[in-house]
Amino acid sequence: MHPSDLAAAQRGRVLVTWSKQATADPLEIVEATGARFRTRRYGWLWDLESQVYNVNAGHGHPHIRQRMHAQIESIAAANPNAVLPIREQLGRMVCERAGFAKAFFATGGSEAVENAIKMARLYTGKTRVITRKNSYHGATLAVLEIAGDRRKQAFEHAMKPGLHIDDPYPSQRVGDTSDWVASLERVLDQAGPDSVAAILLEGFTGTNGMQLPPPDFWPRVRELATAHNILLIDDEIFSGFGRTGRWFAHEHWGVRPDLMTIGKGLTSGYAPLSGVLVSQDVADYFAEQTLWCGLTHYAHPVSCAAAVGSMEVIAREGLVGRAERVGQVLQTQLKTLADTDLGIVDVRGLGLMIRVELDRNATPLHQLMRERGVFLPVRDNAFFVCPPLCLPEEAVAEIVAALADGLAQL
Ligand SMILES: Cc1ncc(COP(=O)(O)O)c(C=O)c1O
Repeated sequence: MHPSDLAAAQRGRVLVTWSKQATADPLEIVEATGARFRTRRYGWLWDLESQVYNVNAGHGHPHIRQRMHAQIESIAAANPNAVLPIREQLGRMVCERAGFAKAFFATGGSEAVENAIKMARLYTGKTRVITRKNSYHGATLAVLEIAGDRRKQAFEHAMKPGLHIDDPYPSQRVGDTSDWVASLERVLDQAGPDSVAAILLEGFTGTNGMQLPPPDFWPRVRELATAHNILLIDDEIFSGFGRTGRWFAHEHWGVRPDLMTIGKGLTSGYAPLSGVLVSQDVADYFAEQTLWCGLTHYAHPVSCAAAVGSMEVIAREGLVGRAERVGQVLQTQLKTLADTDLGIVDVRGLGLMIRVELDRNATPLHQLMRERGVFLPVRDNAFFVCPPLCLPEEAVAEIVAALADGLAQL
């Protein structure tokens, strides 16, 4: 089939996400390796979006493929509770790595967050969930309702109002604390802590800002949660598995959440899998109480194999340290670019989770960068630099030079 025929044929039968169908312009990918993929129309592109922020271990890794093949050859389909060596291995690996008692495996990130909320409601006997005003935790209706992101707008009329912490940026001090903490204290006061089951926060916020929280924020959240029998849920679906230069972003702030949601980089996107990791107290609670959670495809064996393979690659190839190192090189070069009058007003982030803000709308930059060998995620006045963690350091200069050229045309 001629390449343009393939795009037209797919468009004729398959709906795309988050788009008006007539104007969406998805690319045909013909091969992918490491931190790049090759498209029919533009050739090789550096993947600064990691295919929706999840190919942490890199494209086409033979070890992950081999793990998946081996699982397909043994047991390719099994009910979510069946005992399998690959499930035991993944549960052990992920709990030991992250320091939790037990893991509950689901399919996608939004479901993991829904399950974490259900667990918090069951455990505390309370219902409400506090989130940040500019937060995204997934697109199923229950998760849209509690989060603050504008992606809920089309459905908001049918939803209860959320409970949100302000996250002014840059943050200011208010008396003894930061304005983030003051906002949380206010929300808790208004809602009444006896109604709040959970505080749900991204380990490090993704496309909604990548704001570095003030230093008192996470420790104070932990204190307040403990004091009021509220569970602290850390959503590491975007920021986990090395992306910020730590295995999990909360390690930057030194706090221990009660529940942690994982997805995306868990399998590096080779198969769908997500999870909720739970503390010993929560695990003990569900030893005696029913866990009212579960769907048909949960803990899929081939996805478990992809996760084991991906975690092995991230550990063996030192990709967490590499994300920190290459991320610093990228930030330094992007900050140098910011001094050259190309409209950059801020560069910030952690590891390979970087946001660059412009003094104008960044949308046209996406197309300009496709033509310059870079697949660049953009949103409003910002673009993001979130490549696979195996991005070679030598690629940084090439990418930054392409960005300088694209920005000059913007
Ligand atoms: C922080 C965070 N939580 C949850 C989700 C939802 O994950 P999924 O798209 O796999 O349902 C996302 C997706 O972008 C995310 O960034």
